[in-house]
Amino acid sequence: MVSFRIDVAKDIAACAATVPLQEEVWSGDVIVPPQLMLAAVHNGGFVALGYADDDAVAAGFVFGFVGIYDYHFRHHSHMLAVREPYRGSTLAVELKQAQRDHCLDQGIEVIGWTMDPLEARNATFNFAKLGAYTREYHRDFYGAMPDKLNAGLPSDRIYVEWPIGHDRTYKRLKGEDRPPTLEQAEAEGIRYLLKVEEGDRPGAVNAGRAGESHLLLAIPTQFQQLKAHDTGRALEWRLRVRAAFEAAFAKGYAAVEFLRAADGRGAYLLVPQPRREMPVDTDDA
Ligand SMILES: CC(C)(COP(=O)(O)OP(=O)(O)OC[C@H]1O[C@@H](n2cnc3c(N)ncnc32)[C@H](O)[C@@H]1OP(=O)(O)O)[C@@H](O)C(=O)NCCC(=O)NCCS
Repeated sequence: MVSFRIDVAKDIAACAATVPLQEEVWSGDVIVPPQLMLAAVHNGGFVALGYADDDAVAAGFVFGFVGIYDYHFRHHSHMLAVREPYRGSTLAVELKQAQRDHCLDQGIEVIGWTMDPLEARNATFNFAKLGAYTREYHRDFYGAMPDKLNAGLPSDRIYVEWPIGHDRTYKRLKGEDRPPTLEQAEAEGIRYLLKVEEGDRPGAVNAGRAGESHLLLAIPTQFQQLKAHDTGRALEWRLRVRAAFEAAFAKGYAAVEFLRAADGRGAYLLVPQPRREMPVDTDDA
């Protein structure tokens, strides 16, 4: 098993070492300048690179900056990338752990980031392995994007929140707590808000099911492959998943897990969020 050294970036050379990775993972069309990364680092942000023993080129990196959300400081994680040969290793989790340690030291409790809801691998990583959740959907968040992962479709994103101090997060990171399987959820009788139909087509959104205590929202297993093969079908999925998330979030649901079946199928698990009591201002003065 490959082991990694995590280097926290402190200077421009370390920030510049992310550029070849950005080019490799996304393409050279949209590059976050290393100078901007360094400025973020000098203002409480975080850049770290992971190196494998026998490789002078970094195997992966993470980049984020300090933000404010809902009147609280939080860390916005803008990029996480692991080069193809190192995917499936421990590196991605190690980078997130280093980012989490940095934020906990600052007293920050939540790390947020955006994610394409159709990327099943990222969904497993964010929800099942890290213990993140989402309650916000943004249509075409970044506008048209030219890079190889995003070109050709509206850049819809879910906003993922990772409560880094929670016990559940700690257990997920240690591998002590895993979500149930999709087969188990189906056996419990949890119904689908959106299902994959014959030929990888998206089914209809069963909006009438809102009100149930749990719902499943399925996505294709390999969205990039589906998109390369049939852009029309990929757009159909984009719009159907958008409709399903928007309907669920409007009814107060949050997506709290991504469940997988042994045959590779995957679905988000949605549950109603506890309602937050808003203080009522009765002072007219
Ligand atoms: C996102 C990324 C950093 C994650 O790193 P990784 O090494 O792939 O992540 P891991 O292997 O630790 O976790 C992925 C999980 O998804 C699972 N997975 C793989 N293919 C999957 C699929 N098609 N559907 C669902 N889950 C899948 C893996 O089995 C693994 O789970 P496991 O550890 O329980 O087996 C990496 O894939 C990457 O660089 N992607 C491109 C850039 C990107 O999308 N970055 C994030 C947005 S900024």
